[in-house]
Amino acid sequence: MISFFKAKPKPIQNPLQVDMHSHLLAALDDGVKTHEEAIEIVRQFQQLGFTRLITTPHIMSDTYRNTPQGIRSKLEELKAALAAAGITLQLEAAAEYYLDETVIRLLDAGKPMLTFSGNFFLFETNFYAEPFQLNDFIFKSLTKGYKPILAHPERYAYMTVEKAEELYHRGVILQINSLSLIGFYGKPAQKLAQKLVEQKLIHLLGSDCHNLLQARLQAEVMQDKFYRKALDLPLLNYKL
Ligand SMILES: [Fe+2]
Repeated sequence: MISFFKAKPKPIQNPLQVDMHSHLLAALDDGVKTHEEAIEIVRQFQQLGFTRLITTPHIMSDTYRNTPQGIRSKLEELKAALAAAGITLQLEAAAEYYLDETVIRLLDAGKPMLTFSGNFFLFETNFYAEPFQLNDFIFKSLTKGYKPILAHPERYAYMTVEKAEELYHRGVILQINSLSLIGFYGKPAQKLAQKLVEQKLIHLLGSDCHNLLQARLQAEVMQDKFYRKALDLPLLNYKL
């Protein structure tokens, strides 16, 4: 008797385990709207082999005026909802700071920033023009003992490989969005992300997940050639 067995789908090999950039705290920014949506996303990440998520709501003085207290209390709500849903994945929160006058003032005033794994400090900039305070910000954050991480360098119109290299030598850690590698943000971002991987200039990969669609696309990302190449770099994700 001949039996036909359906080939089992190949399990996805994901050595990354830690994702350090996402927007999963309901209604704090342009990320998820409800805890239910966040739970579905976290479930998806768990299925993909992640064991720890560091979620990073926007802090932007004219749009998202989030505070450490507000972020922490929303985190506790989501953690309780995850526990009630039987999800064991570890969840933490930091923030993604927009580089503006407010963040410089916070640094000058010595206010504690929301960081992860000690002193990793995630920031983003204007998408079009290089901010005039960029070097000042880098210098001040390093002087205060933070390790500045530039979120998604590949997405900025002003960014080039040379500029990324310069920032790296100034002490900035570069984090690309894994979705950039499959063209989610368009061709220029994809090409630059691929070049940054090839030049070994990136030290963190993040999902920057805002919604369920982006969470589902992570499975596709994991098959990508450049993503696999990036996994062979000495990524800090392995040490967080
Ligand atoms: Fe983000």
